[in-house]
Amino acid sequence: MTKDIAESALDKVTYPGFAKSIVAFGFVKDITITDKNVAVEVDISSSAPEVAHQITQEATEELKRAGADEVVISINAPKIPRESSSKGKNIAPQVKNFIMVSSGKGGVGKSTASVNLAVALAMQGKKVGLLDADIYGPNIPRMMGLEDTQPDIEGNKVIPLKAYGIEMMSMGSLMEDGQSLIWRGSMIMKAIEQFLRDILWSELDCLVIDMPPGTGDAQLTLSQSVPVTAGVTVTTPQMVALDDSRRSLDMFKKLNIPIAGIIENMSGFIAPDTGVEYDIFGKGTTEPVAKEFDTHILANIPIEPAIRTGGDTGKPITYFAPESETAKRYMAAAEDVWAQIEKINADGGVDNQAIQPTTPPGVSACSTAAQPQQAQHSCGEGSCGCH
Ligand SMILES: Nc1ncnc2c1ncn2[C@@H]1O[C@H](COP(=O)(O)OP(=O)(O)O)[C@@H](O)[C@H]1O
Ligand SMILES: [Mg+2]
Repeated sequence: MTKDIAESALDKVTYPGFAKSIVAFGFVKDITITDKNVAVEVDISSSAPEVAHQITQEATEELKRAGADEVVISINAPKIPRESSSKGKNIAPQVKNFIMVSSGKGGVGKSTASVNLAVALAMQGKKVGLLDADIYGPNIPRMMGLEDTQPDIEGNKVIPLKAYGIEMMSMGSLMEDGQSLIWRGSMIMKAIEQFLRDILWSELDCLVIDMPPGTGDAQLTLSQSVPVTAGVTVTTPQMVALDDSRRSLDMFKKLNIPIAGIIENMSGFIAPDTGVEYDIFGKGTTEPVAKEFDTHILANIPIEPAIRTGGDTGKPITYFAPESETAKRYMAAAEDVWAQIEKINADGGVDNQAIQPTTPPGVSACSTAAQPQQAQHSCGEGSCGCH
């Protein structure tokens, strides 16, 4: 028995409820081999006894099949699963986890990815909210088939709209059609805070947040207002888009947001009539960027007309064509993100204390506050362009 043999045997053990193995998730912490005896230590993100039991049974079987005599599996399970164990400021405490979907530039498919990730998580049994925080280009109402629906008001709070089992709120649902708003930094901060505090979100397992493109006041305010559990970056494969997505990944790092991974969107085009694949924007170029930031690709989503029509008609492809390759990839990406969230929470959750504004109350913080080493610096009104 060698470590390689043991590891490939364990690679056949899928984490219950997911398509990936305990090895692929990085849950196997230690393998000790003495002759033909194998001891394995596994960290899991669920405290459900049946999960530990199933992993123990399957891992024992696979290792014995690979030639082991004695097998000892030790499972380390967290005490409080799924609950967010995050610390710091949270102005929407009924939401357990926050997933920030970001991109370096607009038009790369960030809103489409947010919608399909949210739909996939909801189809996997999670209680999901979808916040369209892209105040400049609120497209989520159309993509969710809710563009003509007005929200109800209860007291001075807004009840989120609902579609496909998901709660949704957007500036687009609170404004007249086609109206443009010119936002100052302090207004952006207020809008983001109101989205979290003044919307009657239910007790949610997660809130997927479609951010405006780039790295600015909205991202900073959001991460200071709630502990963001996971960051997802959406990019297209051409170099100029990748340059921008590096900035988005770097922002996650500066804001102490764990990076769940990258979605490479518009990754090749498969002609529907011939099945021939064309690399319009390139393909697979995102991999080195993922490595650079110690993360991985959550999904490669091809260019597919059905994705665009799904967006335009408010019928997300993951919900309406679950057998399509794209839907399957979004489902796998959602499983991947969720497994990471469980692990992040099992490891103690996230803490946004270190990125709280250092400027006095009532003065808007500027983006330099995102950098801990400059945390003492505060900008005077109007001097940094963010007021
Ligand atoms: N993989 C894809 N294949 C085809 N069309 C896509 C794909 N991803 C996004 N689109 C379309 O491209 C446009 C821009 O996507 P969108 O999600 O609005 O980008 P962003 O939010 O980054 O600005 C939309 O019309 C959308 O339907
Ligand atoms: Mg968008």
